[in-house]
Amino acid sequence: GKVAVIMGGTSSEREVSLMSGGGVLTALQSKGVDAHCFDPAEKPLSALKSEGFDRVFLILHGPFGEDGTIQGALEVMGIPYTGSGVMASALAMDKLRTKLIWKGLGLPIPQFVVLTEQSDFDAVERELGLPLFVKPSTEGSSIGITKVKTPGGLRAAYEEARKYDEMVLAEVFIGGGEYTVGMLDDEVLPSVKIEPATEFYDYQAKYFRDDTVYRCPSGLSAEQEAEMAACAKQAFWALGCRSWGRVDFLMDEMGKFCLLEVNTAPGMTSHSLIPIAARARGMSYEDLVLRVLATARV
Ligand code: DAL
Ligand code: MG
Repeated sequence: GKVAVIMGGTSSEREVSLMSGGGVLTALQSKGVDAHCFDPAEKPLSALKSEGFDRVFLILHGPFGEDGTIQGALEVMGIPYTGSGVMASALAMDKLRTKLIWKGLGLPIPQFVVLTEQSDFDAVERELGLPLFVKPSTEGSSIGITKVKTPGGLRAAYEEARKYDEMVLAEVFIGGGEYTVGMLDDEVLPSVKIEPATEFYDYQAKYFRDDTVYRCPSGLSAEQEAEMAACAKQAFWALGCRSWGRVDFLMDEMGKFCLLEVNTAPGMTSHSLIPIAARARGMSYEDLVLRVLATARV
């Protein structure tokens, strides 16, 4: 049947989604799948029916795409789609609710504070220490995120994040390394270690710089690798995720790791992480895309 690769959309990650979607579309077509680009910023979703699509590869990132809204529409239309369902997508898009669920289960998360207009910004700086991170609760690709390094810098960082979401979080700095674990159906992919050349793994480091180093194998001991994989599985399950996704971690200087977030429609650009992990398993980008497509359901 006909497959719609839904990409683009209206979030601030639109450009990233177009890069991911372009890769996915080319890969599917190269494997003989009758796949077509579908951008909800250009036409209503109801066109999926009239144009005869019977499956969707969902590669929208961010709000109105990765957050359960499009998933709900596809459920109502009865068109099978890749990725998590409505509830898990909505939860995973929301970093605060994600943390609350994981905390409730005793899973490791970084210390954080919810910031509001009424917050005592100096007190939060003292509580979490510097540097610290400020982020909108519901964005991706590090959009709206600031690393606060100097005393008194928190308010400006809050205001920047506030442009993207009403809910803003301040998070303690954890400096032992950033890792990510890809989930593919029942398979947990090997961890990837990210070593940005910049201050942190920001938008430029993610998609445009060629000096970000990705290590896979990541250099963890077999024991740590197994521990991280088990934690990723629990974290994924706790939010109700399915199909595929990517669980992000931070490691502290003592080698203890904690959970950052889950991406339910992870990047598939030429610089993205899941394709790196898949390749380490001997899986080409094209095979990865076919495996994801095979998980489509309503
Ligand atoms: N939000 C971006 C696309 C990612 O997690 O890969
Ligand atoms: Mg994300």
